[in-house]
Amino acid sequence: MRIAVTGAAGLLGRELIQTLNCVHVVLPLTRSDADITLRSAIFRRIAELQPDLVIHAAAIRDLDLCEKQPDFARAVNIEGTRNTLQATAACAADFAFISSDAVFSGTRSLPYGEDDIARPCSVYGQTKLTAEAIVSQWPRHFIFRLSVLFGNGTPNVIETILRTVASGRQYAAATDQIGSATYIPDAARVIEGVIDRRAYGLFHVCNPGEYSRFDLASLAVSIAGLPGSRVVGRRRDEFDGAATRSEYCAMRMDRLPEVGIQLPQSVESALGHYVRAFVL
Ligand SMILES: NC(=O)c1ccc[n+]([C@@H]2O[C@H](COP(=O)([O-])OP(=O)(O)OC[C@H]3O[C@@H](n4cnc5c(N)ncnc54)[C@H](OP(=O)(O)O)[C@@H]3O)[C@@H](O)[C@H]2O)c1
Repeated sequence: MRIAVTGAAGLLGRELIQTLNCVHVVLPLTRSDADITLRSAIFRRIAELQPDLVIHAAAIRDLDLCEKQPDFARAVNIEGTRNTLQATAACAADFAFISSDAVFSGTRSLPYGEDDIARPCSVYGQTKLTAEAIVSQWPRHFIFRLSVLFGNGTPNVIETILRTVASGRQYAAATDQIGSATYIPDAARVIEGVIDRRAYGLFHVCNPGEYSRFDLASLAVSIAGLPGSRVVGRRRDEFDGAATRSEYCAMRMDRLPEVGIQLPQSVESALGHYVRAFVL
């Protein structure tokens, strides 16, 4: 397959390109190749590339930036997605949209499945949910909801935790913000498996297990053999961020087994792989 990937220079985009390159012809699209908010630019570029599939990973994913600049967030995350989808549809290609667990409000304490109703509590989450609705109008779509990403590539939250603690400073993490986490190489493998099967629709992709941000940071620090006392627990409302963080947004993966894809390894096991190979 010829697969174009937007957000090619980003954390997920880089790993997707590496994974898919082994079997497919991958066509990376960075912002300098085509700004997705410029309809004519993305139409022209996708028409030139004639892909069979476009994986749309480009987005503004900074929650606080989205909250402070909602028009900018909507322009990229909603209108940029609409432009990229329409350019894809004009080539009659498949479309895979990368979404987020931030579509869930976190007013419950059981993991959210793909069929659960999403009600975002942040501008970022709203832009992702609106974009999902637009994408679902194209029959040949995939939507992958990921949770907090970690893996090779900068910046990612686990890297920040390890570098902060290793430098002798404290790392503050919320004890009342619970969710899943997604190891980027596992996400790339799952996404490849789903698109190879042409199993259209909505998928949650994370590593099984739910953790507060504090517990996740403590686990990473403990695997790295660093002093756990440098991870400090705080309540969400003690942080300065403009955006409301969901109290609970852990995800369940009901659809992957239905299409014959094995669930990824546990968060603990994935963290072990990542942290043990991490060079401080
Ligand atoms: N990171 C997470 O924890 C996380 C969790 C759940 C879901 N996601 C979703 O996963 C996807 C990938 O996230 P990521 O962590 O890889 O993000 P990232 O590292 O910030 O990469 C996003 C990429 O999008 C590009 N981009 C932004 N605005 C653009 C525009 N107007 N035109 C073209 N390209 C543009 C950026 O280009 P520049 O480099 O030029 O700015 C960047 O390379 C996103 O859809 C995100 O919402 C991420």
